[in-house]
Amino acid sequence: MIIKPTKTVILLLQIIGLVVCGHTQLKAQEQIKPAQLWFDASGKHINAHGGGLIAVKDKYYWFGEKRGKSMSEGVNIYSSSDLVNWHEEGLALNVMDDPTSDISRGCIIERPKVIYNSKTKQFVMWFHLELKGHGYNAARAGVAVSDNVTGPYHFLKSFRPNGNMSRDMTLFVDKNGEAYQIYSSNENYDLRIVRLTDDYLSPTAQDSLLFSKHREAPALFRVKNNYYLITSGCTGWAPNEASVHVAKSLFGPWKYMGDPMSGPDSKTTFGAQSTFVFQIPEKNKWIFMADRWNPKNLTDSRYVWLPIDIDRNGDILINWKDKWSPDE
Ligand code: GAL
Repeated sequence: MIIKPTKTVILLLQIIGLVVCGHTQLKAQEQIKPAQLWFDASGKHINAHGGGLIAVKDKYYWFGEKRGKSMSEGVNIYSSSDLVNWHEEGLALNVMDDPTSDISRGCIIERPKVIYNSKTKQFVMWFHLELKGHGYNAARAGVAVSDNVTGPYHFLKSFRPNGNMSRDMTLFVDKNGEAYQIYSSNENYDLRIVRLTDDYLSPTAQDSLLFSKHREAPALFRVKNNYYLITSGCTGWAPNEASVHVAKSLFGPWKYMGDPMSGPDSKTTFGAQSTFVFQIPEKNKWIFMADRWNPKNLTDSRYVWLPIDIDRNGDILINWKDKWSPDE
């Protein structure tokens, strides 16, 4: 006997199919899976290493190094409305074909960070720049600007802040709108902080040593009146133990609080190196972002993003999770 499904049965089957498939898809997209391949909306592994995040209106933007196998190919940008599903927006900053440019093809652009200046209404990008053919000896900061968050960013200049070497770096904007660059200096033995000018385009003379402990990969964030600074040791692409320092003032004194990582491989920061801490706007939620570098193929380096737990005493803890959702 052949049973002919009625129109109602077909419709019901279609709805069940939609719900089941839709649910499976939704579930897969709700989770951040640290250290696994992370695909963008077009199915490609995200290429935004040593990066940072910025929230603009109801969207998040992820900037990071576009890497070839080893080459530095500029700064990529991705957008998202949930921090899990990312859409490639293309190159925010491209390397130049002009051989006289500071960012000519063959240069190294690392650890780009973008902040918004509400006075000039510009997005300002700072990054670690190494000039073509000079290895890591130039040790400069580069600055680029754009009227739109997605760019294209216009390269302005590169320099050593107040004459100091500047390699691994991050930016931090405090509640009063003052912005700072935190940078590894003096062959990475010193970690320094410099306040930026009101337009965020240059360093001021307020430039001070934080500590001389041979640390890099700085990620700075604020919780109430405490500033926290997560750093790594200096072992190149190889992972090492993280540390966190805390201070009541950005210019210190900074107190060592130990290694905040916990779980398997915590003594090597889960095989990764800090790059940024992002506070989800209006929420008491902070995301620790790190890179598990693959020096044989930098494109394939993985992202280790984990939530930060802050207890009543202000101690921070970053626990390994195989998967998690920013909505949890
Ligand atoms: C690391 C640094 C990376 C990259 C690498 C090159 O110490 O954190 O951003 O510069 O060295 O070896």
